[in-house]
Amino acid sequence: MAAYNERVMDHFRNPRNVGVIEDANGVGEVGNAKCGDIMKMYLKIENDVLTDVKFSTFGCGAAVATSSMATELIKGKSINDALKLTNKAVVEALEGLPPVKIHCSVLAEQAVKTAVADYYTRRGLTPPPEAIVEESDEEEFIANDE
Ligand code: FES
Repeated sequence: MAAYNERVMDHFRNPRNVGVIEDANGVGEVGNAKCGDIMKMYLKIENDVLTDVKFSTFGCGAAVATSSMATELIKGKSINDALKLTNKAVVEALEGLPPVKIHCSVLAEQAVKTAVADYYTRRGLTPPPEAIVEESDEEEFIANDE
């Protein structure tokens, strides 16, 4: 079994911002084709600021920990700053993940982007290119971290 550091274990055992935002105006759901895990991200955006962020996941411990950290990193930030969140930044904030678990952090980044894209789509607007998640992105993210 992969060894997790204390920070990861803390976010796994006591995940921040778990739940559902009933009046979310941006929701994103993504899945990892390899493991079948699913992540759902809820955003409440007011005046281009993410005033509230919550997530729910059917995922592994690393998926829980990275989502928890991702929500902490983007809560209170502008849409533009949230879109700059990378899975690498999430892993760094967690002080590292076992290499075989890096792909789990991709789910958190993609869920944030998909939720932001949904926010634009709901308002009849075209999402910015940074919010578009391509099918191939996951492989690229993994490649960048190996
Ligand atoms: Fe599926 Fe971690 S093993 S997200």
